Amino acid sequence: MSVLAKEQEEAFMKKLIAGNWKMNGDIDEARTLIADIVNGLYAREELLDTCKFLVCPPLLHIASVRHALVGYPKISIGGQDCSESENGAHTGDVSASMLLDAGCTYVIVGHSERRTDHKESDSQVKAKAQQALANDLKPIICVGETLEQREAGDALSVVEAQLKGSLPDEGQWGEIIIAYEPVWAIGTGKVASLDDIAEMHAHIRAIVGARVRILYGGSMKPDNAKEILAVANVDGGLIGGASLKAVDFIGIGRAA
Ligand code: 13P
Repeated sequence: MSVLAKEQEEAFMKKLIAGNWKMNGDIDEARTLIADIVNGLYAREELLDTCKFLVCPPLLHIASVRHALVGYPKISIGGQDCSESENGAHTGDVSASMLLDAGCTYVIVGHSERRTDHKESDSQVKAKAQQALANDLKPIICVGETLEQREAGDALSVVEAQLKGSLPDEGQWGEIIIAYEPVWAIGTGKVASLDDIAEMHAHIRAIVGARVRILYGGSMKPDNAKEILAVANVDGGLIGGASLKAVDFIGIGRAA
């Protein structure tokens, strides 16, 4: 095994299990969910030693989740988006430094739902990732093809172009994370085949090198997580629907 491959294997031995709660739940539900996650994970501390866990609640629930996590430092908090600007007249936006201040250590940027709903471009996603890095947050940069693009045989080139447009400048790659989320697999119950995941993750690895963690996202559940997380170059999962039930979220950690 090459030195680089060995370094990578050691660095990512702990899979990152990241829950993206999206725009779901009121404050009471967020409190219940995080309490159930804490109780479930801290009851099986071996899980906390074998995986890293991250929750990305809706912005308004971050404070409650942070409060619930006092004394439970092995569960991290992330934002679901940040502004591409440092601060100032940007009504409705939230800056990376505000997320840091609120207790976040990660932030998702360029999720396909934001690329679609808010027409975010690769260059905006890159600016957001750079803001995150400048404020000591680890950006989770999302990429993924649509069904149409996959069926046209363009999945690899589409993701490569997204990556090249969305990645911060190369000197800053130490703290970034990539999430490959095929758009057609998000919230649909359809999962990419293991061969397709392996092919795409190897392609991304060839672009970003050994030191960047690569997550898979798209209908990951406790019953398919084990085989997906065992695919080469899959260093964790970004989980939507199944992260809203503590037992499923923890179940994915167990599968890892
Ligand atoms: P689902 O797990 O609901 O398919 O969502 C995946 C996702 O978009 C995570 O960011």
